[in-house]
Parts: sequence; C-alpha cells; structure tokens
Amino acid sequence: MVRFKNKTALVTGGTSGIGRATCLRLAAEGARVAVLGRNVKEGKDVVKAIKTAGGKADFYRCDLAQQAQITRTMHQLLADYGHLDVLVSNAAMMTYKPLLELDLKDWDTVLSVNLRAFAQLCQLCLPAMPAGSAVVVISSVHAHQTTSGVMPYAASKGATEAVVRALSRELDIAQTRINAVAPGAVDTPMLWRNPNVQNGTEKIEGAVGRPEDIAAAVAFLASAEAAFIHGATLVVDGGRLAQL
Ligand SMILES: NC(=O)c1ccc[n+]([C@@H]2O[C@H](COP(=O)([O-])OP(=O)(O)OC[C@H]3O[C@@H](n4cnc5c(N)ncnc54)[C@H](O)[C@@H]3O)[C@@H](O)[C@H]2O)c1
Repeated sequence: MVRFKNKTALVTGGTSGIGRATCLRLAAEGARVAVLGRNVKEGKDVVKAIKTAGGKADFYRCDLAQQAQITRTMHQLLADYGHLDVLVSNAAMMTYKPLLELDLKDWDTVLSVNLRAFAQLCQLCLPAMPAGSAVVVISSVHAHQTTSGVMPYAASKGATEAVVRALSRELDIAQTRINAVAPGAVDTPMLWRNPNVQNGTEKIEGAVGRPEDIAAAVAFLASAEAAFIHGATLVVDGGRLAQL
C-alpha cells in the first residue's frame, strides 16, 4: 500500500515507540516525514532507517514543554516543507503520584506537553494543511478507564478526545479531518517504565500490542480511506476495554 506518495507528515515523539513506528510506516507508504523529538541520536537513527529503506525524512529537535520552541520549530518546518498533509500528535508524558502528593507544577507540565502542545501544533499547522489533510492524535485507554496515581495523564487524554470532537466541529471535513487513536497496552518504553505496571496496580493481562499495530491505525485514519471519519476515537487495545 502506498497511500502517502508526495505527501508530507509530521510525527511528534517520533524518536521512539509508537511515534517511531508511525514515522517508518508513513515513510514506507511514500510520505516525507518530519520526525520531531528531543533525543538527537534517536531522531537521527529514525531518519537513517527511513533513508536506508529508500524513504524521505528529516529530524527536528523540539521540547514540547517549551512553547516558544514549538513555534520556532514549526515555522522552520513549514518553511522547509511548504505544507503539511498529515499531523500526528503522539508525544506524551506521565507522572506517578496520587493527587494529595502531587506538585501542581507537574500537573501543569503534563497538561502542557500532552494537551496544550497539541492545541498549539494545530494552531500552527492547520493554516498550512491543504484539502484532504488529516490530524491524528494519540490518546489512551486511560481516557476511559484508569488506575490511581496517573490523574494528570488520564485528564490530558480525556481532554484530548474532547478536543478532537470539538475541533472536528470547527474543521471542514473536506479540508482537514481530525481523529484520535486510543491504544491499550503497547510494547514501548512508556509501558514498561510505568511503576503501576511494574508493581501490578495496572494489570497487563491480555495481549500487548506492537507499536506497528498502532501505526497501522494511524496510517488508516490519516489516509483517504478514512475520508468519512471525523471527530472520532478509534480504540486499538486488543479488546482490553471490552472486558467486564
Ligand atoms: N505504550 C502504551 O502502552 C501506550 C498506551 C496508551 C497510549 N499510549 C500513548 O502513545 C503515545 C506514544 O507513547 P509510547 O508508548 O510510544 O512511549 P514512548 O515513551 O516510546 O514515546 C513517548 C514519546 O514522547 C516524547 N516526549 C515526551 N515528552 C516530550 C517533550 N516534552 N517534548 C518532546 N517529546 C516528548 C518522548 O521523548 C517519546 O519519544 C503517547 O501519547 C502515549 O500516551 C501508549
């Protein structure tokens, strides 16, 4: 399948896990991919892997906790690319403290990286997104069911899906569609670093997905095959949320 020939795409958090797999998938299907992330070595590795496979990619270093840096990076990227067909907002972070022990500075940081940066990216990118373009944001099953100690993360993901619904009301479906993917447990550094997973508070009992499983769903929603899907969240969790 080559659904993104002559298209341009941006993936935040493209240096690892689901973001990396999404960069590789979009590039394999013909897109020129802007890999956005903080880790220069990992970013260059992704670009190298794409180029070795015959694709096109560029790395942009950007810390999504820094609003001025987001603006600067996006101005540069849009000047380089001219326009953007696909925006994948994937980067996110978690904290692991109950509310009563939480420093609200951490609340602000999580909401800033996971939610505000997504809104800022949309503001900066949408004017450069042509007819037939698509935004896909990575949510989580934590938007629907959650565990203790991850409240800012769960709040950011619930709000992300609300933003997708709200922004779909402001976007013409023929111009730019916006949708979310809510992954379940996926084999990435974020999953195994989670102390709730390590100590069994969050049980990983069913199947664990591969980053490529999520990348496939993102590519579908970003493609013309999903032309009538707008404002939706696609749960990709191996059936986890369906369990009683
Ligand atoms: N792995 C899972 O089980 C799972 C489940 C549900 C949702 N998700 C979501 O999938 C997405 C990708 O996560 P992943 O599992 O691939 O983990 P990951 O740790 O491999 O990827 C997260 C990425 O976000 C980047 N990031 C975090 N803070 C950043 C900042 N300030 N600036 C720039 N980049 C920043 C990280 O550097 C990393 O590349 C996230 O939105 C996460 O919430 C993951």
